[in-house]
Amino acid sequence: MYSKIILKLDKFSYSLRFRNWKFSRCGLPIFHRFLEKTLQNRGYILSRSYMENKLIVFFCSTTGQGNEPETMKAFWKLLLKKSLSPDTCKELKFAVFGLGDSSYEKYNFVAKKLFRRLKNLGATDIVELGLGDDQHYLGLDGALDKWIPRLFEEIYKICGSVKNTKENIIDINVLPKPQFSIQLYNDNYNTRNPPTNVPPNFAEIYSMIGHSRVSVVTGTVLSNIRITAEDHFQDVRSITFKPNTDVIWNPGDYVNVFPKNSNNLVTEFLDLVGYSTMKNSLLKISKSKNETNAKTDDSEKPFLISFWDLVKNYVDINSVPRRSFFKWCSYFTKSEAEKEKLLELSDSSGIDLYYSYCVIPKRTVLEVLYDFSGLHNCAIPIEMILQVFPVMMPRGYSISSSMKISNNIRLTAERSTEKSVNGNGLIESTRVKKDNTKYQSYGLKSSSECKTLMIFGNRNSEKDFLYKNELLNFVDKSHLELIATFSRDPKNPPGLPKYYVQNAIEDNGALIKDLILNKGAYLYVSGKLGKMPLDVKNSIKKVLANHNNGSLPLNLDDAENYLKYMIKTKRYQEECWN
Ligand SMILES: Cc1cc2nc3c(=O)[nH]c(=O)nc-3n(C[C@H](O)[C@H](O)[C@H](O)COP(=O)(O)O)c2cc1C
Repeated sequence: MYSKIILKLDKFSYSLRFRNWKFSRCGLPIFHRFLEKTLQNRGYILSRSYMENKLIVFFCSTTGQGNEPETMKAFWKLLLKKSLSPDTCKELKFAVFGLGDSSYEKYNFVAKKLFRRLKNLGATDIVELGLGDDQHYLGLDGALDKWIPRLFEEIYKICGSVKNTKENIIDINVLPKPQFSIQLYNDNYNTRNPPTNVPPNFAEIYSMIGHSRVSVVTGTVLSNIRITAEDHFQDVRSITFKPNTDVIWNPGDYVNVFPKNSNNLVTEFLDLVGYSTMKNSLLKISKSKNETNAKTDDSEKPFLISFWDLVKNYVDINSVPRRSFFKWCSYFTKSEAEKEKLLELSDSSGIDLYYSYCVIPKRTVLEVLYDFSGLHNCAIPIEMILQVFPVMMPRGYSISSSMKISNNIRLTAERSTEKSVNGNGLIESTRVKKDNTKYQSYGLKSSSECKTLMIFGNRNSEKDFLYKNELLNFVDKSHLELIATFSRDPKNPPGLPKYYVQNAIEDNGALIKDLILNKGAYLYVSGKLGKMPLDVKNSIKKVLANHNNGSLPLNLDDAENYLKYMIKTKRYQEECWN
Protein backbone atom coordinates (compact mmCIF):
# COMPACT_ATOMS: atom_id res chain seq x y z
CA MET A 1 0.00 0.00 0.00
CA TYR A 2 1.27 3.44 -0.85
CA SER A 3 0.68 6.07 1.71
CA LYS A 4 2.03 8.97 -0.28
CA ILE A 5 1.29 10.30 -3.70
CA ILE A 6 2.98 13.45 -4.80
CA LEU A 7 1.56 15.47 -7.60
CA LYS A 8 4.35 17.44 -9.18
CA LEU A 9 2.82 20.52 -10.66
CA ASP A 10 5.01 23.17 -12.10
CA LYS A 11 4.01 26.28 -10.22
CA PHE A 12 4.36 28.47 -13.30
CA SER A 13 1.95 26.27 -15.12
CA TYR A 14 -1.14 28.36 -15.66
CA SER A 15 -3.13 25.87 -17.64
CA LEU A 16 -3.32 23.37 -14.86
CA ARG A 17 -3.35 25.65 -11.88
CA PHE A 18 -6.80 26.82 -12.71
CA ARG A 19 -8.17 23.41 -13.19
CA ASN A 20 -6.77 21.94 -10.00
CA TRP A 21 -10.30 21.43 -8.84
CA LYS A 22 -10.69 18.81 -11.48
CA PHE A 23 -7.93 16.70 -10.05
CA SER A 24 -8.84 17.23 -6.48
CA ARG A 25 -12.40 16.12 -7.12
CA CYS A 26 -11.61 13.15 -9.26
CA GLY A 27 -12.18 10.68 -6.50
CA LEU A 28 -8.87 9.94 -4.89
CA PRO A 29 -8.84 12.37 -2.00
CA ILE A 30 -5.29 11.64 -1.07
CA PHE A 31 -4.49 13.53 -4.25
CA HIS A 32 -6.30 16.53 -2.95
CA ARG A 33 -4.10 16.94 0.07
CA PHE A 34 -0.88 16.64 -1.85
CA LEU A 35 -2.12 18.79 -4.65
CA GLU A 36 -2.95 21.53 -2.20
CA LYS A 37 0.37 21.12 -0.54
CA THR A 38 2.25 21.39 -3.80
CA LEU A 39 0.29 24.41 -4.88
CA GLN A 40 0.37 26.25 -1.62
CA ASN A 41 3.93 25.52 -0.69
CA ARG A 42 5.30 28.40 -2.69
CA GLY A 43 8.96 28.17 -3.54
CA TYR A 44 8.87 24.43 -3.03
CA ILE A 45 12.41 23.25 -3.47
CA LEU A 46 12.85 20.08 -5.41
CA SER A 47 15.33 17.86 -3.73
CA ARG A 48 16.63 14.36 -3.72
CA SER A 49 13.83 13.42 -1.34
CA TYR A 50 11.52 13.64 -4.33
CA MET A 51 13.12 10.53 -5.63
CA GLU A 52 12.34 8.68 -2.45
CA ASN A 53 8.62 8.88 -2.96
CA LYS A 54 6.87 5.86 -4.32
CA LEU A 55 4.40 7.24 -6.79
CA ILE A 56 4.59 10.57 -8.52
CA VAL A 57 2.33 12.05 -11.16
CA PHE A 58 4.04 14.74 -13.22
CA PHE A 59 2.36 17.46 -15.21
CA CYS A 60 4.84 19.45 -17.19
CA SER A 61 4.67 21.92 -20.00
CA THR A 62 7.21 22.61 -22.72
CA THR A 63 8.34 26.13 -23.30
CA GLY A 64 10.82 28.03 -25.51
CA GLN A 65 12.13 25.74 -28.24
CA GLY A 66 11.45 22.48 -26.47
CA ASN A 67 12.75 23.68 -23.07
CA GLU A 68 11.66 22.80 -19.56
CA PRO A 69 9.97 25.57 -17.53
CA GLU A 70 12.12 27.55 -15.08
CA THR A 71 10.79 25.76 -12.01
CA MET A 72 11.65 22.38 -13.42
CA LYS A 73 15.27 23.18 -14.22
CA ALA A 74 16.72 22.15 -10.84
CA PHE A 75 14.78 18.92 -10.84
CA TRP A 76 15.79 18.13 -14.41
CA LYS A 77 19.45 18.82 -13.63
CA LEU A 78 19.23 16.39 -10.76
CA LEU A 79 17.68 13.73 -12.97
CA LEU A 80 20.41 14.13 -15.58
CA LYS A 81 23.29 13.56 -13.16
CA LYS A 82 25.67 11.03 -14.64
CA SER A 83 26.27 9.54 -11.20
CA LEU A 84 22.69 8.22 -11.06
CA SER A 85 22.70 4.48 -11.61
CA PRO A 86 20.11 2.72 -13.81
CA ASP A 87 18.31 1.45 -10.71
CA THR A 88 18.13 4.82 -8.92
CA CYS A 89 14.36 4.96 -9.31
CA LYS A 90 13.56 1.29 -9.20
CA GLU A 91 11.18 1.88 -6.29
CA LEU A 92 9.31 4.61 -8.11
CA LYS A 93 6.04 4.32 -9.99
CA PHE A 94 5.13 7.33 -12.06
CA ALA A 95 2.86 8.90 -14.64
CA VAL A 96 3.56 11.89 -16.88
CA PHE A 97 1.10 14.21 -18.58
CA GLY A 98 2.60 16.78 -20.93
CA LEU A 99 1.17 20.18 -21.76
CA GLY A 100 2.18 21.19 -25.23
CA ASP A 101 1.19 22.47 -28.60
CA SER A 102 1.60 20.35 -31.71
CA SER A 103 2.26 23.38 -33.88
CA TYR A 104 5.69 23.57 -32.24
CA GLU A 105 8.38 21.42 -33.78
CA LYS A 106 9.40 20.00 -30.40
CA TYR A 107 5.93 18.97 -29.42
CA ASN A 108 5.70 18.05 -25.73
CA PHE A 109 9.43 17.53 -25.76
CA VAL A 110 9.88 17.90 -22.00
CA ALA A 111 7.20 15.37 -21.07
CA LYS A 112 8.66 12.89 -23.55
CA LYS A 113 12.20 13.43 -22.21
CA LEU A 114 11.07 13.10 -18.61
CA PHE A 115 9.16 9.91 -19.34
CA ARG A 116 12.18 8.35 -21.06
CA ARG A 117 14.65 9.45 -18.42
CA LEU A 118 12.59 8.08 -15.53
CA LYS A 119 12.35 4.74 -17.30
CA ASN A 120 16.11 4.76 -17.88
CA LEU A 121 16.54 5.22 -14.16
CA GLY A 122 14.49 2.13 -13.46
CA ALA A 123 11.13 3.74 -12.61
CA THR A 124 7.89 2.04 -13.69
CA ASP A 125 5.25 3.92 -15.65
CA ILE A 126 1.77 3.08 -14.43
CA VAL A 127 0.00 4.56 -17.43
CA GLU A 128 1.04 5.60 -20.93
CA LEU A 129 2.49 9.07 -21.46
CA GLY A 130 -0.34 11.62 -21.74
CA LEU A 131 0.11 14.36 -24.32
CA GLY A 132 -2.10 17.43 -23.99
CA ASP A 133 -2.27 19.54 -27.13
CA ASP A 134 -3.41 23.16 -27.32
CA GLN A 135 -4.29 22.49 -30.96
CA HIS A 136 -6.91 19.88 -30.08
CA TYR A 137 -10.38 21.30 -30.57
CA LEU A 138 -10.97 20.86 -26.84
CA GLY A 139 -7.51 22.09 -25.92
CA LEU A 140 -5.66 20.14 -23.25
CA ASP A 141 -8.93 18.57 -22.13
CA GLY A 142 -8.98 16.56 -25.35
CA ALA A 143 -6.27 14.22 -24.07
CA LEU A 144 -6.74 14.83 -20.35
CA ASP A 145 -10.30 13.54 -20.30
CA LYS A 146 -9.19 10.17 -21.56
CA TRP A 147 -6.00 10.03 -19.57
CA ILE A 148 -7.35 10.85 -16.10
CA PRO A 149 -9.69 7.82 -15.82
CA ARG A 150 -6.83 5.59 -17.00
CA LEU A 151 -4.57 7.13 -14.38
CA PHE A 152 -7.05 6.62 -11.58
CA GLU A 153 -7.79 3.09 -12.65
CA GLU A 154 -4.12 2.30 -12.12
CA ILE A 155 -3.87 4.33 -8.94
CA TYR A 156 -6.85 2.47 -7.51
CA LYS A 157 -5.11 -0.79 -8.27
CA ILE A 158 -2.04 0.38 -6.41
CA CYS A 159 -3.74 2.23 -3.57
CA GLY A 160 -6.95 0.21 -3.49
CA SER A 161 -6.81 -0.37 0.20
CA VAL A 162 -6.91 3.33 1.09
CA LYS A 163 -9.68 4.11 -1.35
CA ASN A 164 -12.66 3.54 0.84
CA THR A 165 -11.52 4.47 4.28
CA LYS A 166 -13.88 6.99 5.84
CA GLU A 167 -11.25 9.68 6.11
CA ASN A 168 -10.58 9.52 2.40
CA ILE A 169 -14.05 9.78 0.99
CA ILE A 170 -15.17 13.16 -0.28
CA ASP A 171 -18.74 13.55 -1.39
CA ILE A 172 -18.58 15.36 -4.72
CA ASN A 173 -21.87 17.07 -3.92
CA VAL A 174 -20.22 18.87 -1.06
CA LEU A 175 -18.85 22.26 -1.97
CA PRO A 176 -15.04 22.27 -1.85
CA LYS A 177 -13.40 24.78 0.46
CA PRO A 178 -12.49 28.04 -1.30
CA GLN A 179 -8.80 28.83 -1.68
CA PHE A 180 -9.37 32.41 -0.59
CA SER A 181 -11.08 33.98 2.31
CA ILE A 182 -12.99 37.08 1.18
CA GLN A 183 -14.65 39.18 3.85
CA LEU A 184 -16.56 42.40 3.75
CA TYR A 185 -14.18 44.88 5.38
CA ASN A 186 -16.28 48.01 5.25
CA ASP A 187 -19.54 48.57 3.58
CA ASN A 188 -19.27 51.95 2.00
CA TYR A 189 -15.82 52.57 0.76
CA ASN A 190 -15.49 56.04 -0.62
CA THR A 191 -13.35 55.72 -3.75
CA ARG A 192 -12.66 59.44 -3.84
CA ASN A 193 -11.00 59.28 -0.47
CA PRO A 194 -9.32 55.89 -0.22
CA PRO A 195 -7.78 54.90 3.12
CA THR A 196 -4.00 54.99 2.99
CA ASN A 197 -3.70 51.32 3.90
CA VAL A 198 -5.07 50.12 0.56
CA PRO A 199 -1.95 48.63 -1.03
CA PRO A 200 -1.75 49.16 -4.77
CA ASN A 201 0.76 46.33 -4.77
CA PHE A 202 -0.15 44.34 -7.83
CA ALA A 203 2.72 41.89 -7.37
CA GLU A 204 1.39 40.71 -4.02
CA ILE A 205 -2.13 40.43 -5.26
CA TYR A 206 -1.19 38.53 -8.39
CA SER A 207 1.01 36.28 -6.35
CA MET A 208 -1.83 35.47 -3.99
CA ILE A 209 -4.36 34.72 -6.67
CA GLY A 210 -2.08 32.26 -8.32
CA HIS A 211 0.46 33.90 -10.59
CA SER A 212 4.11 33.33 -9.95
CA ARG A 213 5.94 35.91 -7.92
CA VAL A 214 6.69 38.35 -10.67
CA SER A 215 7.80 41.92 -10.49
CA VAL A 216 4.90 43.98 -11.68
CA VAL A 217 5.63 47.32 -13.27
CA THR A 218 2.88 49.81 -13.90
CA GLY A 219 3.10 52.26 -16.74
CA THR A 220 1.25 54.82 -18.79
CA VAL A 221 0.17 54.24 -22.36
CA LEU A 222 1.76 57.01 -24.40
CA SER A 223 0.36 56.01 -27.75
CA ASN A 224 -1.75 53.34 -29.38
CA ILE A 225 -1.48 53.64 -33.14
CA ARG A 226 -2.95 51.47 -35.85
CA ILE A 227 -0.16 50.45 -38.22
CA THR A 228 -2.18 48.59 -40.83
CA ALA A 229 -4.38 50.33 -43.40
CA GLU A 230 -7.87 51.23 -42.16
CA ASP A 231 -9.47 48.91 -44.72
CA HIS A 232 -7.15 45.98 -43.91
CA PHE A 233 -8.76 43.01 -42.17
CA GLN A 234 -6.13 42.99 -39.39
CA ASP A 235 -6.02 45.83 -36.90
CA VAL A 236 -2.37 45.78 -35.80
CA ARG A 237 -1.36 48.28 -33.14
CA SER A 238 1.89 49.80 -32.06
CA ILE A 239 1.44 50.53 -28.37
CA THR A 240 4.02 52.49 -26.41
CA PHE A 241 4.19 52.42 -22.60
CA LYS A 242 6.17 54.60 -20.27
CA PRO A 243 7.10 52.39 -17.29
CA ASN A 244 6.77 54.08 -13.90
CA THR A 245 10.00 52.52 -12.66
CA ASP A 246 13.30 51.72 -14.35
CA VAL A 247 13.12 48.57 -16.42
CA ILE A 248 15.97 46.86 -18.20
CA TRP A 249 15.37 44.53 -21.10
CA ASN A 250 17.39 42.75 -23.72
CA PRO A 251 16.71 41.74 -27.29
CA GLY A 252 14.27 38.85 -27.28
CA ASP A 253 12.62 39.74 -23.96
CA TYR A 254 8.88 39.88 -23.68
CA VAL A 255 6.43 41.36 -21.22
CA ASN A 256 3.31 39.90 -19.71
CA VAL A 257 0.52 42.42 -19.84
CA PHE A 258 -2.29 42.13 -17.33
CA PRO A 259 -5.47 43.36 -19.00
CA LYS A 260 -8.31 45.12 -17.22
CA ASN A 261 -12.01 44.81 -17.94
CA SER A 262 -13.73 47.85 -19.37
CA ASN A 263 -15.98 49.82 -17.01
CA ASN A 264 -19.04 48.76 -19.00
CA LEU A 265 -18.21 45.09 -18.58
CA VAL A 266 -17.64 45.49 -14.85
CA THR A 267 -20.98 47.28 -14.47
CA GLU A 268 -22.79 44.58 -16.44
CA PHE A 269 -21.13 41.83 -14.43
CA LEU A 270 -21.91 43.37 -11.04
CA ASP A 271 -25.51 43.97 -12.11
CA LEU A 272 -25.91 40.37 -13.23
CA VAL A 273 -24.43 38.72 -10.17
CA GLY A 274 -26.36 41.13 -7.96
CA TYR A 275 -23.55 43.06 -6.28
CA SER A 276 -23.81 46.45 -7.98
CA THR A 277 -24.85 48.18 -4.76
CA MET A 278 -21.64 46.89 -3.18
CA LYS A 279 -19.26 48.06 -5.86
CA ASN A 280 -17.57 50.50 -3.48
CA SER A 281 -17.39 48.07 -0.57
CA LEU A 282 -13.95 47.18 0.60
CA LEU A 283 -13.10 43.47 0.68
CA LYS A 284 -10.40 41.82 2.74
CA ILE A 285 -8.84 38.92 0.87
CA SER A 286 -6.44 36.33 2.18
CA LYS A 287 -5.47 32.77 1.48
CA SER A 288 -7.69 30.26 3.26
CA LYS A 289 -5.91 28.56 6.10
CA ASN A 290 -5.78 24.83 6.48
CA GLU A 291 -3.46 22.25 7.89
CA THR A 292 -1.32 22.10 4.76
CA ASN A 293 -0.32 25.73 4.70
CA ALA A 294 0.35 26.56 8.28
CA LYS A 295 3.50 28.37 7.20
CA THR A 296 2.80 31.80 5.77
CA ASP A 297 4.82 33.81 3.33
CA ASP A 298 4.39 37.22 1.78
CA SER A 299 1.88 35.96 -0.73
CA GLU A 300 -0.47 35.09 2.10
CA LYS A 301 -0.77 38.52 3.72
CA PRO A 302 -4.32 39.82 3.43
CA PHE A 303 -5.02 42.74 1.14
CA LEU A 304 -7.86 45.18 0.85
CA ILE A 305 -9.54 46.02 -2.40
CA SER A 306 -12.86 47.45 -3.50
CA PHE A 307 -15.32 45.03 -5.11
CA TRP A 308 -15.16 47.13 -8.27
CA ASP A 309 -11.34 46.96 -8.49
CA LEU A 310 -11.36 43.24 -7.82
CA VAL A 311 -13.63 42.60 -10.78
CA LYS A 312 -11.98 45.20 -12.98
CA ASN A 313 -8.44 43.83 -12.52
CA TYR A 314 -8.61 40.21 -11.52
CA VAL A 315 -11.75 38.48 -12.80
CA ASP A 316 -11.61 37.38 -16.43
CA ILE A 317 -15.25 37.93 -17.29
CA ASN A 318 -14.56 38.19 -20.99
CA SER A 319 -12.89 34.79 -21.36
CA VAL A 320 -14.44 31.58 -22.65
CA PRO A 321 -15.07 29.54 -19.49
CA ARG A 322 -13.60 26.12 -18.90
CA ARG A 323 -15.81 23.22 -17.96
CA SER A 324 -14.88 23.49 -14.28
CA PHE A 325 -16.61 26.90 -14.25
CA PHE A 326 -19.93 25.19 -14.94
CA LYS A 327 -19.30 22.70 -12.17
CA TRP A 328 -18.71 25.51 -9.70
CA CYS A 329 -21.83 27.32 -10.91
CA SER A 330 -23.88 24.16 -10.42
CA TYR A 331 -23.29 24.45 -6.66
CA PHE A 332 -24.86 27.90 -6.56
CA THR A 333 -27.66 28.19 -9.10
CA LYS A 334 -31.07 28.70 -7.54
CA SER A 335 -32.74 26.77 -10.34
CA GLU A 336 -32.85 22.96 -10.36
CA ALA A 337 -33.28 22.84 -14.16
CA GLU A 338 -30.21 25.02 -14.59
CA LYS A 339 -28.23 22.88 -12.19
CA GLU A 340 -28.78 19.89 -14.44
CA LYS A 341 -27.70 21.82 -17.51
CA LEU A 342 -24.63 23.21 -15.75
CA LEU A 343 -23.62 19.74 -14.62
CA GLU A 344 -24.04 18.43 -18.14
CA LEU A 345 -21.83 21.22 -19.49
CA SER A 346 -19.17 20.42 -16.91
CA ASP A 347 -19.10 16.68 -17.45
CA SER A 348 -17.11 14.80 -20.06
CA SER A 349 -20.37 13.19 -21.25
CA GLY A 350 -21.58 16.68 -22.21
CA ILE A 351 -18.50 17.54 -24.20
CA ASP A 352 -20.40 18.08 -27.47
CA LEU A 353 -22.81 20.42 -25.76
CA TYR A 354 -19.93 22.34 -24.16
CA TYR A 355 -18.20 22.55 -27.52
CA SER A 356 -21.21 23.86 -29.41
CA TYR A 357 -22.37 26.16 -26.59
CA CYS A 358 -19.01 27.59 -25.54
CA VAL A 359 -16.04 26.82 -27.77
CA ILE A 360 -17.48 27.43 -31.25
CA PRO A 361 -19.32 30.69 -30.52
CA LYS A 362 -16.52 31.77 -28.11
CA ARG A 363 -19.19 32.44 -25.51
CA THR A 364 -17.81 34.44 -22.61
CA VAL A 365 -18.36 34.12 -18.87
CA LEU A 366 -20.51 37.25 -18.99
CA GLU A 367 -22.67 35.83 -21.77
CA VAL A 368 -23.12 32.59 -19.83
CA LEU A 369 -24.33 34.64 -16.87
CA TYR A 370 -27.04 36.16 -19.06
CA ASP A 371 -28.24 32.65 -19.95
CA PHE A 372 -28.39 31.31 -16.38
CA SER A 373 -30.60 33.56 -14.31
CA GLY A 374 -30.38 31.18 -11.35
CA LEU A 375 -26.90 32.63 -10.85
CA HIS A 376 -28.20 36.20 -10.48
CA ASN A 377 -29.24 38.04 -7.30
CA CYS A 378 -26.23 37.20 -5.14
CA ALA A 379 -26.55 33.45 -5.79
CA ILE A 380 -22.76 33.19 -5.91
CA PRO A 381 -21.45 34.18 -2.47
CA ILE A 382 -18.81 36.91 -2.34
CA GLU A 383 -16.25 34.57 -0.78
CA MET A 384 -16.49 32.30 -3.83
CA ILE A 385 -15.95 34.98 -6.49
CA LEU A 386 -12.27 34.17 -7.09
CA GLN A 387 -13.00 30.46 -7.03
CA VAL A 388 -15.92 30.33 -9.42
CA PHE A 389 -14.76 32.90 -11.96
CA PRO A 390 -11.55 32.58 -13.96
CA VAL A 391 -8.71 34.76 -12.78
CA MET A 392 -7.31 37.27 -15.25
CA MET A 393 -4.32 35.81 -17.10
CA PRO A 394 -1.41 37.83 -18.41
CA ARG A 395 -0.90 38.07 -22.18
CA GLY A 396 2.70 37.79 -23.39
CA TYR A 397 4.07 40.16 -26.05
CA SER A 398 7.57 40.43 -27.46
CA ILE A 399 9.05 43.87 -26.93
CA SER A 400 9.53 45.55 -30.28
CA SER A 401 11.73 48.45 -29.28
CA SER A 402 15.29 48.88 -28.17
CA MET A 403 16.56 50.38 -24.91
CA LYS A 404 19.32 51.94 -26.98
CA ILE A 405 16.71 54.24 -28.47
CA SER A 406 14.22 54.82 -25.67
CA ASN A 407 13.28 53.65 -22.19
CA ASN A 408 9.67 53.39 -23.29
CA ILE A 409 8.43 49.92 -24.13
CA ARG A 410 6.81 49.39 -27.49
CA LEU A 411 4.62 46.38 -28.21
CA THR A 412 3.12 45.29 -31.49
CA ALA A 413 -0.22 43.59 -31.09
CA GLU A 414 -3.08 42.53 -33.26
CA ARG A 415 -6.53 43.44 -32.12
CA SER A 416 -8.09 40.48 -33.81
CA THR A 417 -11.65 40.66 -32.52
CA GLU A 418 -13.60 42.58 -29.94
CA LYS A 419 -12.53 39.96 -27.47
CA SER A 420 -8.86 39.25 -27.76
CA VAL A 421 -5.51 40.68 -28.65
CA ASN A 422 -2.69 38.56 -30.03
CA GLY A 423 1.01 39.09 -30.28
CA ASN A 424 2.72 39.87 -33.53
CA GLY A 425 6.16 38.62 -34.29
CA LEU A 426 8.00 41.44 -35.98
CA ILE A 427 11.51 41.73 -34.65
CA GLU A 428 12.56 45.27 -35.20
CA SER A 429 16.04 45.55 -36.61
CA THR A 430 17.28 47.62 -33.69
CA ARG A 431 16.49 44.70 -31.41
CA VAL A 432 18.44 42.13 -33.32
CA LYS A 433 21.43 40.99 -31.39
CA LYS A 434 24.77 40.92 -33.12
CA ASP A 435 27.79 39.40 -31.52
CA ASN A 436 29.92 42.39 -32.35
CA THR A 437 32.90 41.09 -30.42
CA LYS A 438 33.70 38.29 -32.85
CA TYR A 439 33.99 40.33 -36.03
CA GLN A 440 37.76 39.78 -36.38
CA SER A 441 37.45 36.03 -36.64
CA TYR A 442 35.28 36.58 -39.72
CA GLY A 443 37.80 38.85 -41.43
CA LEU A 444 35.95 42.09 -40.67
CA LYS A 445 37.97 45.16 -39.76
CA SER A 446 35.50 46.61 -37.28
CA SER A 447 32.17 45.80 -35.68
CA SER A 448 30.56 48.44 -37.89
CA GLU A 449 31.14 46.09 -40.81
CA CYS A 450 28.67 43.64 -39.21
CA LYS A 451 25.41 43.86 -41.04
CA THR A 452 21.79 43.12 -40.34
CA LEU A 453 19.65 41.60 -43.03
CA MET A 454 15.91 41.48 -42.48
CA ILE A 455 13.59 39.39 -44.61
CA PHE A 456 10.14 40.70 -43.88
CA GLY A 457 6.99 39.05 -45.15
CA ASN A 458 3.36 40.00 -44.97
CA ARG A 459 0.41 40.18 -47.35
CA ASN A 460 0.21 43.53 -49.00
CA SER A 461 2.80 46.29 -49.32
CA GLU A 462 0.14 49.00 -49.10
CA LYS A 463 -1.76 47.57 -46.16
CA ASP A 464 0.43 45.64 -43.74
CA PHE A 465 4.02 46.69 -44.28
CA LEU A 466 4.50 47.16 -40.52
CA TYR A 467 6.83 49.98 -39.46
CA LYS A 468 7.50 50.67 -43.13
CA ASN A 469 8.87 54.20 -42.74
CA GLU A 470 11.02 53.28 -39.78
CA LEU A 471 12.53 50.30 -41.59
CA LEU A 472 13.16 52.27 -44.77
CA ASN A 473 14.81 54.94 -42.67
CA PHE A 474 17.20 52.31 -41.26
CA VAL A 475 17.93 51.22 -44.82
CA ASP A 476 18.70 54.83 -45.83
CA LYS A 477 21.13 55.11 -42.95
CA SER A 478 22.73 51.78 -43.93
CA HIS A 479 21.80 50.19 -40.58
CA LEU A 480 19.78 47.54 -42.33
CA GLU A 481 19.47 45.55 -45.52
CA LEU A 482 15.84 44.78 -46.15
CA ILE A 483 14.10 42.27 -48.38
CA ALA A 484 10.34 42.78 -48.12
CA THR A 485 7.97 40.18 -49.57
CA PHE A 486 4.20 40.42 -49.90
CA SER A 487 2.27 37.27 -50.68
CA ARG A 488 -0.93 38.92 -51.93
CA ASP A 489 0.38 42.14 -53.32
CA PRO A 490 -1.69 43.43 -56.24
CA LYS A 491 1.64 44.36 -57.82
CA ASN A 492 2.65 40.67 -57.98
CA PRO A 493 2.41 39.25 -61.50
CA PRO A 494 -0.95 37.45 -61.77
CA GLY A 495 -1.01 33.67 -62.06
CA LEU A 496 2.28 33.10 -60.23
CA PRO A 497 2.41 31.17 -56.94
CA LYS A 498 2.43 33.26 -53.75
CA TYR A 499 5.82 34.54 -52.70
CA TYR A 500 6.79 34.10 -49.05
CA VAL A 501 9.88 34.73 -46.89
CA GLN A 502 11.09 31.19 -47.55
CA ASN A 503 11.07 31.91 -51.30
CA ALA A 504 13.07 35.08 -50.65
CA ILE A 505 15.59 33.06 -48.63
CA GLU A 506 16.11 30.64 -51.50
CA ASP A 507 16.30 33.41 -54.09
CA ASN A 508 19.00 35.10 -52.01
CA GLY A 509 20.69 31.81 -51.22
CA ALA A 510 24.27 32.79 -52.07
CA LEU A 511 24.15 35.84 -49.79
CA ILE A 512 22.53 33.96 -46.92
CA LYS A 513 24.83 30.98 -47.20
CA ASP A 514 27.84 33.28 -47.13
CA LEU A 515 26.51 35.09 -44.07
CA ILE A 516 25.91 31.82 -42.23
CA LEU A 517 29.01 29.83 -43.16
CA ASN A 518 31.60 32.57 -43.56
CA LYS A 519 30.39 35.49 -41.44
CA GLY A 520 29.01 33.66 -38.39
CA ALA A 521 25.50 35.07 -38.88
CA TYR A 522 22.83 34.68 -36.22
CA LEU A 523 19.34 33.87 -37.48
CA TYR A 524 16.19 35.00 -35.71
CA VAL A 525 12.91 33.65 -37.00
CA SER A 526 9.89 35.48 -35.74
CA GLY A 527 6.23 35.40 -36.61
CA LYS A 528 3.21 33.18 -36.56
CA LEU A 529 3.61 29.64 -35.40
CA GLY A 530 2.74 26.82 -37.77
CA LYS A 531 4.05 26.26 -41.28
CA MET A 532 6.23 29.35 -41.56
CA PRO A 533 9.04 28.38 -39.12
CA LEU A 534 9.23 24.88 -40.63
CA ASP A 535 9.34 26.22 -44.20
CA VAL A 536 12.03 28.73 -43.25
CA LYS A 537 14.15 26.01 -41.69
CA ASN A 538 13.81 23.85 -44.81
CA SER A 539 14.77 26.78 -47.02
CA ILE A 540 17.87 27.44 -44.95
CA LYS A 541 18.82 23.77 -45.27
CA LYS A 542 18.35 23.93 -49.04
CA VAL A 543 20.38 27.11 -49.28
CA LEU A 544 23.28 25.54 -47.38
CA ALA A 545 23.19 22.45 -49.58
CA ASN A 546 22.85 24.25 -52.91
CA HIS A 547 25.95 23.95 -55.13
CA ASN A 548 25.12 27.16 -56.94
CA ASN A 549 25.32 29.18 -53.76
CA GLY A 550 29.06 29.82 -53.68
CA SER A 551 31.70 27.81 -51.87
CA LEU A 552 31.42 24.91 -49.47
CA PRO A 553 28.27 23.14 -50.63
CA LEU A 554 27.04 20.85 -47.85
CA ASN A 555 25.11 17.70 -48.51
CA LEU A 556 21.60 17.66 -47.00
CA ASP A 557 22.69 15.65 -43.95
CA ASP A 558 25.53 18.04 -43.24
CA ALA A 559 23.19 20.99 -43.74
CA GLU A 560 20.77 19.43 -41.27
CA ASN A 561 23.59 18.90 -38.77
CA TYR A 562 24.86 22.42 -39.27
CA LEU A 563 21.41 23.75 -38.51
CA LYS A 564 21.23 21.62 -35.37
CA TYR A 565 24.59 23.03 -34.35
CA MET A 566 23.31 26.57 -34.93
CA ILE A 567 20.27 25.85 -32.76
CA LYS A 568 22.43 24.41 -30.01
CA THR A 569 24.78 27.37 -30.03
CA LYS A 570 21.80 29.75 -30.21
CA ARG A 571 22.78 31.04 -33.63
CA TYR A 572 19.35 29.97 -34.87
CA GLN A 573 16.49 31.12 -32.69
CA GLU A 574 12.77 31.06 -33.18
CA GLU A 575 10.30 33.30 -31.46
CA CYS A 576 7.02 32.20 -32.89
CA TRP A 577 3.62 32.59 -31.29
CA ASN A 578 0.11 31.51 -31.93
C1 LIG B 1 6.91 30.82 -25.65
C2 LIG B 1 6.26 29.47 -25.76
C3 LIG B 1 7.00 28.40 -26.23
C4 LIG B 1 6.42 27.13 -26.34
N1 LIG B 1 7.16 26.08 -26.83
C5 LIG B 1 6.58 24.87 -26.96
C6 LIG B 1 7.33 23.77 -27.49
O1 LIG B 1 8.50 23.87 -27.85
N2 LIG B 1 6.70 22.56 -27.58
C7 LIG B 1 5.39 22.37 -27.20
O2 LIG B 1 4.88 21.25 -27.31
N3 LIG B 1 4.66 23.41 -26.70
C8 LIG B 1 5.21 24.64 -26.57
N4 LIG B 1 4.48 25.68 -26.08
C9 LIG B 1 3.06 25.47 -25.74
C10 LIG B 1 2.86 25.26 -24.25
O3 LIG B 1 3.60 24.17 -23.75
C11 LIG B 1 1.38 24.99 -24.03
O4 LIG B 1 0.69 26.17 -24.39
C12 LIG B 1 1.03 24.63 -22.60
O5 LIG B 1 -0.36 24.37 -22.55
C13 LIG B 1 1.40 25.75 -21.65
O6 LIG B 1 1.09 25.36 -20.37
P1 LIG B 1 1.35 26.37 -19.14
O7 LIG B 1 0.80 27.69 -19.56
O8 LIG B 1 0.60 25.72 -18.05
O9 LIG B 1 2.82 26.38 -18.94
C14 LIG B 1 5.05 26.94 -25.97
C15 LIG B 1 4.31 28.04 -25.50
C16 LIG B 1 4.90 29.29 -25.40
C17 LIG B 1 4.06 30.45 -24.91
